[in-house]
Amino acid sequence: MSELSLEKQTNATPDDEVVLEVDQVTLKFGGVVALNGVDFHIRRGEILGLIGPNGAGKTTCFNAMTGVYAPTSGNIRFLGKQVSGRQSHQITRMGIARTFQNIRLFPEMSALENVLVGCDARHKTSVLGALFRAYRVRPKPEELPEITGTGLTRAQSRLRRATAKVFGVSRHTLEERAGRKKAMELLRFVGIADRANDLARNLPYGYQRRLEIARAMATEPQLLCLDEPAAGFNPAEKESLMALIRRIRDRGLTVLLIEHDMKLVMGVTDRIVVLEFGQKIAEGLPSEVASNPKVIAAYLGEPDDAASA
Ligand SMILES: Nc1ncnc2c1ncn2[C@@H]1O[C@H](COP(=O)(O)OP(=O)(O)O)[C@@H](O)[C@H]1O
Ligand SMILES: [Mg+2]
Repeated sequence: MSELSLEKQTNATPDDEVVLEVDQVTLKFGGVVALNGVDFHIRRGEILGLIGPNGAGKTTCFNAMTGVYAPTSGNIRFLGKQVSGRQSHQITRMGIARTFQNIRLFPEMSALENVLVGCDARHKTSVLGALFRAYRVRPKPEELPEITGTGLTRAQSRLRRATAKVFGVSRHTLEERAGRKKAMELLRFVGIADRANDLARNLPYGYQRRLEIARAMATEPQLLCLDEPAAGFNPAEKESLMALIRRIRDRGLTVLLIEHDMKLVMGVTDRIVVLEFGQKIAEGLPSEVASNPKVIAAYLGEPDDAASA
């Protein structure tokens, strides 16, 4: 792939505007303190890496930022506005989009239709939304089942029937939407346009990961949060994905990248925040973080088999 040959492009100096502030956020699940006074910010145009061993609280941090969970204490502000307490779809409209550590797509919709759902999430009144409401299906990505294998769970089967029903009557409407052009452009951008009309569940794993990114981008976010987007990739695929992330930033988006593999983020991030046991243990330039004894100790202490929690 041509992306492989791309050199790392130096980021245009990010201006000073803080896009996201995570301010002393604590989040408890019963006795488990998943986040403990976590504090960091992201500036416009940055690629910020959020790294740490498994169970460190990275995904929980995304969940708090995107309205899946409310912090037990502390605040999250996006462009100066409070995020905590808002619902996921409101936060999407504010301009934060995310992908999931375990892929979540509409398995029985085509790649193109999955992106159209993203386009649609941007707008308050929508044909698609009305159709889904009519069939009592709420197409929130965070509620979608994970695509785990070829067998369909009961929830997936229900979703399959419901979506088939909806799209049986609406395919024509969808194809007329202006969003279709935008959706195709995004599929091209992430490199999977050749399979636009294939059902999501039939796409190769790497395509599904890229499709999730396209769907998130379709909501026209200012901040794109990617939760281990390269999980399960071989080294060449990982490198290619990092190149895509740089191109996303070059399109004007700010990127928050969760990654477990520290080496991988070194070449792509402008700054890195490190979590361990729910606490921030380091923050700085990739080179600073890589040589930080606390960070080295945190990673050395990790069991070898904990590769994908
Ligand atoms: N919904 C939940 N209920 C209870 N505990 C949770 C929940 N989500 C995450 N946790 C716990 O919070 C901690 C942080 O998890 P997570 O954010 O998934 O870590 P990471 O993404 O860094 O691997 C872990 O101990 C995990 O078991
Ligand atoms: Mg995680």
